[in-house]
Amino acid sequence: MKFNPVTTNTWVPLTIQDESEPLLNIVSAENEFVTDEDGNVWIDAISSWWTMIYGHRHPRLISALQNQLQTLDHVMLAGNIHESAENLAKSLLELTNFDFKKVFYSDNGSNAIEIALKLSIQYYQNHPDFKARSEFIVFSNSYHGDSIGAMNVSGKNYFNRIFSELRFPTKEFPAPNCMNCPWGKQPTNCDTECLADLELSIKQNEYAGIVIEPLVFGANGMLFYDKKVLTKLRDLATSTDTLLIFDEVFTGMGKLGEPFAYQKAEVVPDLLILAKGLTGGMLPLATTLVSDFIYKQFLSKDPYKSFFHAHTMTGNALACSVGYTSVSMLQEFGLTKVRELEKKLNLYAISFQKKMGTSVENVRVMGGIFAFEWKEPVAHDEYLNPIGKQIKNSLRNFHILLRPLGRTIYITPPYTISDPSLEKIFLALETTLLGFLEPEKD
Ligand SMILES: Cc1ncc(COP(=O)(O)O)c(C=O)c1O
Repeated sequence: MKFNPVTTNTWVPLTIQDESEPLLNIVSAENEFVTDEDGNVWIDAISSWWTMIYGHRHPRLISALQNQLQTLDHVMLAGNIHESAENLAKSLLELTNFDFKKVFYSDNGSNAIEIALKLSIQYYQNHPDFKARSEFIVFSNSYHGDSIGAMNVSGKNYFNRIFSELRFPTKEFPAPNCMNCPWGKQPTNCDTECLADLELSIKQNEYAGIVIEPLVFGANGMLFYDKKVLTKLRDLATSTDTLLIFDEVFTGMGKLGEPFAYQKAEVVPDLLILAKGLTGGMLPLATTLVSDFIYKQFLSKDPYKSFFHAHTMTGNALACSVGYTSVSMLQEFGLTKVRELEKKLNLYAISFQKKMGTSVENVRVMGGIFAFEWKEPVAHDEYLNPIGKQIKNSLRNFHILLRPLGRTIYITPPYTISDPSLEKIFLALETTLLGFLEPEKD
């Protein structure tokens, strides 16, 4: 490999700045494949950080972009509106069956979280019946982004420990863990024991919101949990007038088999955040969907009640037009595809578990996510667990792109991945991991 993070002009993120770290120079992409400068074709098994839900360079998205370029590229959204912003907003509201009233645009997941936090705080300030509130309930294994506010409502962990001084008040509770319930319960007999401390706290304090990734904690370990947790949180939020904020940057746009995870859980939040798959990964775009009762507190001639927040590229017409097509594709075939993928992943999970035996734990599938933990003799779950990097590097021999989260290995392929590519991923995983189990030869 000719490039490394030290010699490139680009500061490559989430990559150790060391000359021994190889960088792939990617020159083109199509469907589930990316091609490097030497002509090697790689399978993008995590769909480039969970964005390329229809694979790379889908022709429908390309033509949406080309068509939009014929008329309008970008116009500032302050004081203006345009058709592609309106089309996408309308289609998103329709897809939520109008559980929300307004769509606030931004350009990445972290910013969309910031917007939800600021809207929540201002909601209480604008509301004549409430005192100001600004503290949020957050969860230990959550990840909501890398900007200061988004980092602040994420669990305290390896990613953000350096910046702990910058934290505004939050109250962190252990993330629900239905895969290894500390109370030894199953969803069938669970009484949401894990929320007992939270329940006590929310009844004694005035929080501005509960921030959570519904059904799956993604970047912090692909932890699945039961919808009972969300039902209970909804009840607690409603009874204490606390806002419920669902971060669906990862789980939204069909990832779990429904358009949004909140629909799968049958629990409607007050604010909903989307990004990543929104444009099928083609352009940066994010949204914060706002409930009617929140929006009403901003409906005023008084400028002090306005929400003063915008990013320069907010509602970019090219991104919105691609987003609109991406939402249409989700309804036309994306959901069918992800449900078919889930069935295939479930079959692979059974044979994978059989082959790997006790060397793997928590083999699991939800929608387009397959994950498991590699059982380490000394288990530690940190992102930095070196086994993740070893597995990632070994998979490179098979031209499979993965980014394990420490000993948690997962795949999130495009919904449209072909059967031969899926087969190749599992074959590569099994061959690599069984190789790790073989005793070292002298
Ligand atoms: C659940 C969740 N929220 C927020 C973010 C931040 O999104 P972005 O990287 O677009 O800022 C991520 C990114 O991985 C995420 O997984």
